Amino acid sequence: MVTNFKDQLTSKKAIELESKYGAHNYHPLPVVLSKGEGVFVWDLEGKRYYDFLSAYSAVNQGHCHPKIVDAMIDQSKKLALTSRAFHNDVLGIFEKYITEYFGFDKVLPMNTGAEGVETALKLCRKWAYEKKGIAENKAKIIVCENNFHGRTTTIISFSCDPDATKNYGPYTPGFIKIPYNDTNALAEALKDPDIAGFLVEPIQGEAGVFVPDEGYLTKCRDLCKEAGVLFIADEVQTGIARTGKILACDHENVKPDILILGKAISGGLYPVSAVLADDDVMLVIQPGQHGSTFGGNPVAARVAMAALDVVKEEKLAERAEILGEVLRRELRDIDTEMISIVRGKGLLNAIVITPKNGKDAMDVCLKMAENGLLAKPTHGDKIRFAPPLVITEDQLMECVEIIKKSVLSFE
Ligand SMILES: Cc1ncc(COP(=O)(O)O)c(C=O)c1O
Repeated sequence: MVTNFKDQLTSKKAIELESKYGAHNYHPLPVVLSKGEGVFVWDLEGKRYYDFLSAYSAVNQGHCHPKIVDAMIDQSKKLALTSRAFHNDVLGIFEKYITEYFGFDKVLPMNTGAEGVETALKLCRKWAYEKKGIAENKAKIIVCENNFHGRTTTIISFSCDPDATKNYGPYTPGFIKIPYNDTNALAEALKDPDIAGFLVEPIQGEAGVFVPDEGYLTKCRDLCKEAGVLFIADEVQTGIARTGKILACDHENVKPDILILGKAISGGLYPVSAVLADDDVMLVIQPGQHGSTFGGNPVAARVAMAALDVVKEEKLAERAEILGEVLRRELRDIDTEMISIVRGKGLLNAIVITPKNGKDAMDVCLKMAENGLLAKPTHGDKIRFAPPLVITEDQLMECVEIIKKSVLSFE
C-alpha cells in the first residue's frame, strides 16, 4: 500500500504531507530527495544535485557507500539488536577496533551526537566527584559561546541561540560560558576550583565554520592539564577526516581526555556515536549507571567499522586536506562583493554572504539548487560547503562553476 502510494508521489505532494503531518521543527529547502550515490543525490523528478552539505558532515564517505551498505545488510540478516543485557559477538571486536583507531583505552557507544555529548558531560561530572574530589553537586563545566552540541535539555541549557533555548527552561545549571578562541578567558575561568571540564568544538561548525587561531587547542589542553580539568573535544561534526586529518585535534597533535564522535562514524547509514577516554576516566561509570538500548548494537558496530575502514582505505583525510585548499582558493577568486568571507579547514568550509539587490544567502542556496548543487544557510548569512570527501577534483571544479554562476546571477 505504501509502495502504491509512493508511485504517485511528487515533490509538491511530499512537501505537503510533511507540512500537514510532521512537526514543524525544520525548514528544509523545497527539494525532495529519493536517491543518493557518492557525491550525488536525486529528487523525485529525477533531477541530480551535488550534495554540498553531506547531512551536516555525516556522509563523509559518500551516499550509500557499497562497503558500508553491505556490512549493514549482512549484519541485519544475522543479528540486529540484543540490548546490553547480553553480550554479542560484534561489540567487543568493534570496541577493540575503534579504541585502537583513535588511541584510547575504552569506548562507550551511543547513537546520536547529542547522546554522545550527554555521555561526556555525565562522565566528566562523575570523574570530578569520584577522582578530583569536588563536593557533591558543585561541579561546573566550561563551554564556549555560540556552541552547538545538540538539542537535549541539558545541552541547550548552555546554548546562546534563542531559538534553541526560548521557553525550554528551567535550564540545567553547572555550565560557565566563555568566548570561543579566547585562552585568557579560559585561564580566568579555570581559577574556579569546582571546574570539572572544558567542552569545545575544535572548529565551530553550526556557528558558521569558525576556525580558531593556530595553537588554540594546544593552549586549551595545556591550561586544562595544569588545572586538573578534563579537556573534552566534541568532534561530532569535525571528526572522521572532514577537516583534513582524522580528527580536527590532530592538526595540533592534541589528544583530548574525552573525545566525542558521531555522524560520519557510520557514513550516514545509521545513528552511531561514541565517547572515548582512557581507563582513569571511563572506569568511573559502573554497570547500571549509564547506557542505551541501541548503543553498540551489532548493526551499528559493523556499520561503524566499515565506515572507518573506508576513511583509511580511500584516504579521505588526505583528499579533504588537498581539495579544501583548492575549494577555498577558487571561491576567493570569484569576482563578487556578495561573498565577503571564505573560511574553513579541509572540506568543512563556509562563505559569508553580503546581500545584494535584495538577495540573501537563502536566495543563493535556492539558485544553486536550481543549478544542481544543494547547500543550506546557517545563522542567516553563512552558507556551509561540505561535500562528501569522495568528491573528485573535476567534480569540485564543476561545483565551483555552479556556485560562481549562481552568485553572479544576482549581480
Ligand atoms: C559539534 C556537534 N555536536 C553535536 C551534534 C549533535 O548531533 P546529533 O544531531 O546527531 O544529535 C552536532 C550536530 O550537528 C554537532 O555539530
